[in-house]
Amino acid sequence: MSLKVLILGVNGFIGNSLTESILKKTNWEVYGMDMSSDKLEASLGNSRFHFVEGDITINKEWVEYHIKKCDVVLPLVAIANPALYVKEPLRVFELDFEANLEIVRQCVFYNKRILFPSTSEVYGMSSEEEFNEENTNLVLGPIHKQRWIYSCAKQMLDRVIYAYGDQHGLDYTLFRPFNWLGPKLDRINDAKEGNSRVVTQFISNILYHGEISLVDGGQQRRSFTCIDDGIDALLKIIENKDGQASRRIFNIGNPKNDFSIIELAHMIVDQVKTYPDYREKAEKVVIKSVESGNYYGQGYQDLGYRVPSIENARKYLGWEPKISLQEALKKTLDYHLSDRSHAAEIEDAA
Ligand code: UGA
Repeated sequence: MSLKVLILGVNGFIGNSLTESILKKTNWEVYGMDMSSDKLEASLGNSRFHFVEGDITINKEWVEYHIKKCDVVLPLVAIANPALYVKEPLRVFELDFEANLEIVRQCVFYNKRILFPSTSEVYGMSSEEEFNEENTNLVLGPIHKQRWIYSCAKQMLDRVIYAYGDQHGLDYTLFRPFNWLGPKLDRINDAKEGNSRVVTQFISNILYHGEISLVDGGQQRRSFTCIDDGIDALLKIIENKDGQASRRIFNIGNPKNDFSIIELAHMIVDQVKTYPDYREKAEKVVIKSVESGNYYGQGYQDLGYRVPSIENARKYLGWEPKISLQEALKKTLDYHLSDRSHAAEIEDAA
């Protein structure tokens, strides 16, 4: 019998890409819910994909019924945009923590395996060179720095899931994406600054605003990971060969792609110059520094760097990220700027 995978938030950046890969590479069935389906064009229509449009916080009966029916549950619904942590911290708590806690409890009740998206953000401003799942201290700022509510909500769920594993035998895997990027991360044509995560924000800045803002000078660093590498890791986690992924935490990131935000900005500008329709915009773009308090608000606080240790993923999953940041950016830009069917969404920028 084929594995039944439930993906809540199936139209999201991770959900849509994971669904596409599952349908291509395995014989598993995917059951999915989301409030829209615009990123699912490659999967809708496949007889192994069962999609329902809806909000998980309203369609609770559907969600519970499918947790009961499926083998593996991925609750991917969350707000994951730092601008919103600062502007709408209570919404982050209600959705990322409260709504997901219900799902976790149902997985315990029905004895289902849960793969929960923790986050690189749980490590906060840790001073260790490389962050690892077993020993690194999780370091957050004071309460008025509301940026950390997301990290804190995710950390609390990590701890709850871990405790359910310990006390009630819940079969779980916590995975921590480190700045995944790729096509369909956020909407390119969402013009307002701060609406998107950095890669899509910079692309949209080049196309629409003529200015890129480096928050506090852009010296802060991230380890960027191509979504294709991330999805490979998730497929291995779902497959769970010999139970190697069970009751473990995995950083899913690429330590070789550790770059500062200013370096990232230049890489994106240089790559956009290679697309003839957009060259002029990339040549004219101005890169400037802005204060974080003005950009995000006073509740923002940043971390200086974030490099994952991926020893756990290497050892237990046999996983290794392969895609450089340059390649990942090219895939993203090709999708949005070259492929005519997707370029339609940004046609007025050319
Ligand atoms: C992200 C988000 O919290 C989540 O998506 C996720 O859980 C996690 O980290 C992850 O993807 O690993 P962050 O890395 O701060 O947090 O997200 P971005 O919004 O992509 O910002 C990256 C850096 O670029 C920050 O230092 C930010 O200040 C800077 N930035 C962003 C700019 O300099 N200019 C901009 O216009 C936007």
